[in-house]
Amino acid sequence: MVYYDSLFKEMLKGQELQRPAMKKGDPAFFRRLEQAMDVHREKIRLNVLKPRWDDSVLDFTTSDFLSINRTGRIREAFLKELERCGDFRLSASGSRVQYGNYEYILEVEREIAAFHGAETAWICHSGFYANIAVLEAVALPGDAIVFDEFSHASTGVGMKVSVAAHKLSFQHNSPDSLRDALTSLKALDPGFTTGERSVLICVESLYSMEGDLCPLKELVGVAKEVFPSGSAQFIIDEAHSNGVIGPNGGGLVQLLGLEKEIAVRVHMCSKALGSTGGVILCNQTVRSALTQYSRCLTYSGAPSVPMVASIRAGYQLLSSGQTQKEQYHIQEMVKYFFESLLDDPSWQEAMDEGLISVPLAEDYEERAVLSHVVPVKMKPGHDFSLFVHLAMKNMNAYPMGYPVVPKGTALVRILFHAHNTKEEIDRLVAAVGEWAIEVLELERNGSKNALPSAMRRFLALQGTS
Ligand SMILES: Cc1ncc(COP(=O)(O)O)c(C=O)c1O
Repeated sequence: MVYYDSLFKEMLKGQELQRPAMKKGDPAFFRRLEQAMDVHREKIRLNVLKPRWDDSVLDFTTSDFLSINRTGRIREAFLKELERCGDFRLSASGSRVQYGNYEYILEVEREIAAFHGAETAWICHSGFYANIAVLEAVALPGDAIVFDEFSHASTGVGMKVSVAAHKLSFQHNSPDSLRDALTSLKALDPGFTTGERSVLICVESLYSMEGDLCPLKELVGVAKEVFPSGSAQFIIDEAHSNGVIGPNGGGLVQLLGLEKEIAVRVHMCSKALGSTGGVILCNQTVRSALTQYSRCLTYSGAPSVPMVASIRAGYQLLSSGQTQKEQYHIQEMVKYFFESLLDDPSWQEAMDEGLISVPLAEDYEERAVLSHVVPVKMKPGHDFSLFVHLAMKNMNAYPMGYPVVPKGTALVRILFHAHNTKEEIDRLVAAVGEWAIEVLELERNGSKNALPSAMRRFLALQGTS
């Protein structure tokens, strides 16, 4: 069976309405849950667990940016590292504030901190938990959290568990909007100026949907200008920059030389590093606060030796320069993608007609570092149709709609990897161009509700076309 057949089958199965088939006698709790999910099923928007695809499917989706997972390099490095660990005990058998704080995790944390130019590093189970743990621990009662409007869901959950009194967003990547938010806090409570209150500013080095880099230097300048006493500090999520951006993949903060300016950096090991886990980089004061106030970190068993070994294996590949070629190749592929789409008459027509847009392709030559996360933006509805079209061409790039992106917007997110080739990008550009021309023709023929052929084939599988 070709990949998209099994994928579509799984997706369509997941979208079948459940509530009508439920019996009156079924417990009300389950009926209510199914009813809530049916709302998403009706819009083909219920998350489903996708079947795993093999490497013959062109990958514009996975987080294996440096390709160290698919090539087996991380597994090899991990197995060597595990061998070095000798007769280890599998489980930490306790939380970090109890028995679970063992020498090996401390040793690896010291190494990671040195690699990132940080005072300390804390390894935890996932980047998602790391973001929650930080916000749970470092905001005190009366404090404020100011966050970029496009912050990741983990920051949202972290804010829910935080005791901060104020939680306000600023416009995406806008220094002026950040200034307005900080100035409003200054007016609200003199404690922010005197240092009796703190402001935590949450940003991401590279935004997972917009794909753009954070103007971190400018934002740091704004925070210093409004609060020279240092009461405003940054927490940066480096999920997408880890391994891909900066010296040896150290991230955006290191690329910009801002190690001393940023209070907390959170790196994720589940993406370019090819394993799993989160790393919180901070000074000793913040580390003590994590130990004191983060229930996520202290009421939970510590990461096991194999998990820590896999993280160390990834970091050793980075720090020894063994992933630099891959880092460079990703930049080349993104550049080639922009050149190709801007040269392609179908893309040009689709962009001129307003069907799609690729904001990151504008002035890409002027940027020293290109993001490997490239959204192709379009109207809601078209994203799913393009995804289906690409899947039928044996390539994977996922559609993103509300609530992952703001209401009324949609995109297909293209992620670039060290294993992508120019030939694959040619195929991608041709496939998107073909879809765009078909959609434009349907619209020109006045058949606004007519569906592109791939979408018709998809729905036919369900027997609803
Ligand atoms: C921006 C961002 N932050 C946090 C996370 C969560 O990281 P992890 O996979 O380590 O839980 C992700 C993962 O998708 C992410 O994209």
